[in-house]
Amino acid sequence: MQQAFGNFQIHSRVTVGSKVLRIQQRLGNGAFGVVYKVIDETSNVYALKDVVCLKGSDIRNAIREVRTMNQISHENVISVIAAEQFQDARGLHMLILTEYCVGGTLNERLTRQSSEEINFKWIRQMAAALAFLHSRRIVHRDLKADNVLLTATEDVKLADFGLAREYIALKRIDASRDDGSWMSCYTQYYMNSGVGPIHWVAPEFFSGRYTEKADVFSLGTLFFSILERDFVMINGKPMYGAFKRIPGGGKVGIGYAMANYGSNITIQFSPYAQGSGALKRIAVDAMQYNKNDRPSAEEIHNRITNIQGSVRLSNSGNQQASEGWCC
Ligand SMILES: Nc1ncnc2c1ncn2[C@@H]1O[C@H](COP(=O)(O)OP(=O)(O)O)[C@@H](O)[C@H]1O
Ligand SMILES: [Mg+2]
Repeated sequence: MQQAFGNFQIHSRVTVGSKVLRIQQRLGNGAFGVVYKVIDETSNVYALKDVVCLKGSDIRNAIREVRTMNQISHENVISVIAAEQFQDARGLHMLILTEYCVGGTLNERLTRQSSEEINFKWIRQMAAALAFLHSRRIVHRDLKADNVLLTATEDVKLADFGLAREYIALKRIDASRDDGSWMSCYTQYYMNSGVGPIHWVAPEFFSGRYTEKADVFSLGTLFFSILERDFVMINGKPMYGAFKRIPGGGKVGIGYAMANYGSNITIQFSPYAQGSGALKRIAVDAMQYNKNDRPSAEEIHNRITNIQGSVRLSNSGNQQASEGWCC
């Protein structure tokens, strides 16, 4: 296996599980690793994530976790194909092979306009994917616009689900692996990587609590980002989400604002937002301060499916649709 220091060289070969792959292109740098476009011997294209581990002892755990994700199959959830570890001069690496999404990330896509139909499709598919993960007892824990990938037909594939704790365990040198400490390390890690106060997380995240309802909050911020197109600039890159202006002038994520500036803070759509009233209500409900006031991902998915149903019904009756994407 040929390799440059810290990075795979283009055209070099890598073996992951039973697959021999050739590196085609570097796709991007994330918070935890580098992602490459790779091709196998029969010209199938995949994405390969390389996470350099600072703490090797947790790698078995992480690889076991990734391999169980191999059994997860949903049309809006990225397929995990294989995981592997290898050692080089930089240390121990974890390689994760997944399906490749040619449409890039939702965060990049939001810089361009999209129709109400496409917006509705993304929202419905994200809700379906999260409801599915929760039904399989998988909590996403890193649900942000950079982890929503798009296919050639602009269909959603949720990526990087359920691995935030494992990534953090591989990256940190101190602290034992429990739920409270992974969150403070996650915050610290993102802060250090220049993202600033993580803008997609729920308010309770900052006091070290994470349940499925924290994923629901993040889902609400994604819905908001699609309909409102609000963003902050970070390192010259627009990052889409749901923000609140704080005293002093800056914009912070709504969850961070609620945790630090008052639980009575709420989010509001501007008159320029796209989407029906029903969709906006779902987004606002998902972003409630109290997690018990948020619907479950399944309830959200059902509400969205009902909007779609009511649009179909009113269209077949030749009436003007009052909900859904049509208004
Ligand atoms: N499966 C994939 N298909 C296509 N591009 C991908 C895939 N996974 C990741 N990428 C690209 O690589 C970049 C880095 O991904 P990642 O390491 O997961 O970081 P992050 O989620 O923090 O952006 C993404 O922003 C995206 O552009
Ligand atoms: Mg990612």
